[in-house]
Amino acid sequence: MDAITAMLTRRSIRKYTAEPVPDEVLNDLLQCAMHAPSAGNQQPWHFVIIRDRKILDAVPGFHPHAAMLKNAPVAVLICADTALETHKGYWMVDCSAATQNFLLATHAKGLGAVWLGIYPREERMAEIKSLLDLPTNVMPLSLVALGYPAEAKLAADRFNSSRLHYDKW
Ligand SMILES: Cc1cc2nc3c(=O)[nH]c(=O)nc-3n(C[C@H](O)[C@H](O)[C@H](O)COP(=O)(O)O)c2cc1C
Repeated sequence: MDAITAMLTRRSIRKYTAEPVPDEVLNDLLQCAMHAPSAGNQQPWHFVIIRDRKILDAVPGFHPHAAMLKNAPVAVLICADTALETHKGYWMVDCSAATQNFLLATHAKGLGAVWLGIYPREERMAEIKSLLDLPTNVMPLSLVALGYPAEAKLAADRFNSSRLHYDKW
């Protein structure tokens, strides 16, 4: 799948088959995430791959929009070590770029995924930090649930010419 098609047809997929996602497939997706641009190329990201059913099932206990994790074979937490920041305050922007790369790669490889918001909700951040034993300097940005899709969605048309401004607002 080419990049334009991937961007224009990606949708959030919240239903998955029971088929496991092999490590080699996951590593290809993580390689794409790590190719994201970052401030000063600081690459502050870390990735926690979660396959433990007990951990996956615990998240909907504190995250109100994460029920799909009960049927997801795997999820990936995208987080940043703020000690790696050379450009302070950009970790969430860098991790957002990595999350989007990861979602597009997932779709392009025929899997389905959804971005679950963690940052900036303090309570979700604290719960995830505690659940996954994150060090204090590691900040969680997003949790991505993924698997082989058990639902199909039509591409959305979101082009909105009223949001375009030429030279000045
Ligand atoms: C920052 C962010 C947080 C999100 N959090 C959730 C979430 O907690 N649960 C969920 O099911 N979807 C979540 N989504 C997915 C959005 O609901 C979805 O991207 C949006 O409705 C557009 O639909 P699409 O992804 O199918 O194009 C989140 C997306 C973003 C970018």
